[in-house]
Amino acid sequence: MSKLFKQFLKNPFRTGSLLPSSETLAKEIVSQVDFIKNKTIVEFGPGTGPVTSEVLKLINDKNIFFTMELNSELVVELNQRFPKLIVYNDTAVTIEKYLRLHKLKYADIIISSIPVTLLKENEQREILDCIIKNLSPNGEFVMYMYIVSKFIKSGQRFEQLLEEYFPYTTRTKLVWNNFPPAFIYKCRKKI
Ligand SMILES: C[S@@+](CC[C@H](N)C(=O)[O-])C[C@H]1O[C@@H](n2cnc3c(N)ncnc32)[C@H](O)[C@@H]1O
Repeated sequence: MSKLFKQFLKNPFRTGSLLPSSETLAKEIVSQVDFIKNKTIVEFGPGTGPVTSEVLKLINDKNIFFTMELNSELVVELNQRFPKLIVYNDTAVTIEKYLRLHKLKYADIIISSIPVTLLKENEQREILDCIIKNLSPNGEFVMYMYIVSKFIKSGQRFEQLLEEYFPYTTRTKLVWNNFPPAFIYKCRKKI
């Protein structure tokens, strides 16, 4: 049984997926990011680390990279898989505290796998408020949503919220090689 599947059985609403993202989706997500121009990268909800693994291949010692994972059992897995990775066992909305710990005002890039479609509107807004507050003025937010989100109210609402919070949002073509297929969104604070 996959490690994420086990966590899904324990807490489906927080885990949000039966399987980790495919290598294709993870590579497509990191291809949205310029790791030379952007110094500070934060990942929300790394899970078992498919996206993390691709980020680690592309960063260098000038980048600052840390991850925030709510599930303590997955934090143990991540620490074993990536001994040098910085993982905070905390909710994404506390990012400010960890930026300060690194003596940083902002993150340049936030990559998120949080299952936002399973959240209520106030929880979706709480995450977006926190992202807007903690992204640098030229910062970018990258996330994905499964195809099913298109057909459910909370998914449609989150897509509208992205438009409300960010002046510029792009969406990739559907990445079919993932279960379920997913769209990647890239949002900028400035046009
Ligand atoms: C759908 S899984 C994705 C895991 C992995 N990034 C991938 O692409 O396969 C979502 C992950 O987000 C974590 N998570 C959910 N809400 C969170 C929050 N508020 N802060 C940090 N992590 C959260 C869950 O524990 C889970 O590991």
